[in-house]
Amino acid sequence: MRILVTGGAGYIGSHTCILLIEAGYDIVVFDNFCNASKESIARVEKIVGKTIPLIEGDIRYKEDLNRVFESYTIDAVIHFAGLKAVGESVEKPLEYYDNNIYGTLVLCQVMAAHGCKSIVFSSSATVYGDPHSTPIKEDFPLSATNPYGRSKLFIEEMLRDLYVSDPEWKIVLLRYFNPIGAHESGTIGEDPNGIPNNLLPFIAQTAIGTRACLSVFGDDYDTVDGTGVRDYIHVMDLADGHVKALDKMSTFTEIMTIKAFEAACGKKVPYSIAPRRAGDIATCFADPTYAKAVLGWEAQRGINEMCKDSWRWQSNNPQGYKS
Ligand code: NAD
Ligand code: UD1
Repeated sequence: MRILVTGGAGYIGSHTCILLIEAGYDIVVFDNFCNASKESIARVEKIVGKTIPLIEGDIRYKEDLNRVFESYTIDAVIHFAGLKAVGESVEKPLEYYDNNIYGTLVLCQVMAAHGCKSIVFSSSATVYGDPHSTPIKEDFPLSATNPYGRSKLFIEEMLRDLYVSDPEWKIVLLRYFNPIGAHESGTIGEDPNGIPNNLLPFIAQTAIGTRACLSVFGDDYDTVDGTGVRDYIHVMDLADGHVKALDKMSTFTEIMTIKAFEAACGKKVPYSIAPRRAGDIATCFADPTYAKAVLGWEAQRGINEMCKDSWRWQSNNPQGYKS
């Protein structure tokens, strides 16, 4: 399967690219580099030992996205591209609505035009506004307190409407809390433009001496030490969540399964289209929620691992147990 990673050169995107490749996915990175550097992808290439197709373009421009979809068969999109600074969004709301909402609208239009209807979207815990209690659960009421948050909220609504209009769409909304940390190689990480907005980069830049001192914004909140409580998550764990989301939403047609097997065995598998088999049905797939709730069990391995392991068995034992 080939995944288009919009905003793939950015902080979370670059870390996710590593795990996608390690899980056996092919990827294309698409970024306009308004908040990223090509160096991040050069370093990801070093980590994974592979060349990564990188297309410079803007999600707001159909012709840029068409170039990607015309050059590659894209099976799903992980959509990180967007602007993310809350303070800036208050000063420049139109830029946020243009980049985030309009950009996502154009992306969905181009995806639909090319028959690609699977998307994992980077939403944010900001869509819970100021929650009435904690911990926050997915069914808590949604609201926004700034244009950045509103852009995420509107995109979620747009994607929900899209699904209602055409249930062939597979849509995962991931609401991140506070990603921090970096890949264990120490070669890629968060590189914010200018003065960091977020706590962790500020602590790190103060520790290295770039900043003289950091401000703790308020110590009179009703918390254990009076300072703000957040839910920090290692960026590699968050990246892994994207691979899991892809695996989970991937139901596979026969031809997609053949393609995944071809990727695992490194050669073409000849096939031809034959008449329907008697008694077959079009679609059959499970909702695993109940097993997870009752047994605490969930499948761990995606289609690429399934094909890789099947091929290892078949190629080591061409005649099965007879050999
Ligand atoms: P980032 O700025 O490092 O990555 C975003 C990437 O998108 C950048 O590489 C940027 O150059 C690119 N981009 C922006 N606008 C574009 C456009 N119009 N066309 C093409 N590329 C464009 O940010 P990140 O921290 O990696 O965040 C990724 C996504 O996750 C964002 O959508 C953000 O809103 C969301 N998110 C981030 C956090 C966080 O704390 N980092 C929390 C919640 C949600
Ligand atoms: C911010 C965004 C949120 C986004 C999240 C992750 C706001 C209002 N919200 O959330 O939408 O999803 O980042 O990108 O900006 N702090 C300091 N000193 C600093 C910086 C921060 O004390 O120099 C404090 C803050 O007041 C807060 C905590 O550290 O209590 C975390 O701040 P930050 O890293 O900006 O994340 P969020 O506020 O959770």
